[in-house]
Amino acid sequence: MAEPARIALIGPGAIGATVAAWLAQSPELALTLCARTPLDRLEIETPGGPISAELVVLTDPADAAPADWVLVCTKAYDVAGAAAWLARLVGPDTRVAVLQNGVEHVARFAPYVPVERILPAVVDISAERSAPGRVLQRMNGTILVPAGADGEAFAALFDHSPIDARTTTDFTTALFRKLTVNCAGGVCGIVNKPNGIARDPAIADFMRALAEECVTVGRAEGARLADDLAASVVRGYQQTPPDSINSLHADRMAGRPMEIDARHSVIVRLGEKHGIPTPMNRLAVTLLNAVQ
Ligand SMILES: NC(=O)c1ccc[n+]([C@@H]2O[C@H](COP(=O)([O-])OP(=O)(O)OC[C@H]3O[C@@H](n4cnc5c(N)ncnc54)[C@H](OP(=O)(O)O)[C@@H]3O)[C@@H](O)[C@H]2O)c1
Repeated sequence: MAEPARIALIGPGAIGATVAAWLAQSPELALTLCARTPLDRLEIETPGGPISAELVVLTDPADAAPADWVLVCTKAYDVAGAAAWLARLVGPDTRVAVLQNGVEHVARFAPYVPVERILPAVVDISAERSAPGRVLQRMNGTILVPAGADGEAFAALFDHSPIDARTTTDFTTALFRKLTVNCAGGVCGIVNKPNGIARDPAIADFMRALAEECVTVGRAEGARLADDLAASVVRGYQQTPPDSINSLHADRMAGRPMEIDARHSVIVRLGEKHGIPTPMNRLAVTLLNAVQ
């Protein structure tokens, strides 16, 4: 029988713990968690019921050894912390999947890993953590990666899980579609209220304006985004459980830094590059920095 594939997951938070617990259900995968805060076990309340896993947990990069796959699931601003692990986890054949928001996954890790071995991933899973290793996964969700051999191999890791991991030939569009969702959700971080605040018509207008700027910038970057995307993103927030909390808002509530750069400043930066005004996202950056 073939040796199980060695998977090291950096950052077992809301997304990392959920992904790790699902991958751990497969006998063909051997997982190691690389954590900042120690944890004993993973207990995930999934849409289909609870699942749990007891895995090797490291808290010191010095104890790590090369893996076949590294899954980076830290926040986008925790690159330096993740890089300390990568220095030990990446061997000559290691592939590194970056499961983060924003559109700059590859650029973020290019100083630490050869770019041809970095696989950016767009995660659309709604997950909230209540304690180390304890997560509410609100939907099975999807993970999109670029088409190609590495993308196919990554997607195959999820064959035993209900998470729909698959490749796309138009990854730029996937990136900006998700950024459109994320930038609209920045309002929740500003007003410190769950996603249900989107049912307020004035808040919905603000969300739509943020999202429209992202659509314009995304198109300038080559994404193919539908004319009604911004409106449908706002409808999505209005239809989501009113008490659900996006990860930027979760950060604010927990007193952690927020992903302001990856979710809003990047739109301002790319807008400047293309000569596209982005006053709403600029305002969001100002307000989020003020409440951070
Ligand atoms: N949550 C969602 O619903 C969701 C959905 C789609 C995409 N995303 C994106 O997915 C990414 C992860 O988000 P998340 O919500 O899972 O964040 P999270 O719950 O804050 O988890 C991040 C994890 O990284 C850990 N970490 C930070 N520095 C580390 C280091 N040096 N070594 C090891 N671990 C370290 C944190 O440790 P501590 O426990 O010490 O804080 C935490 O467990 C973000 O880019 C987010 O935007 C999130």
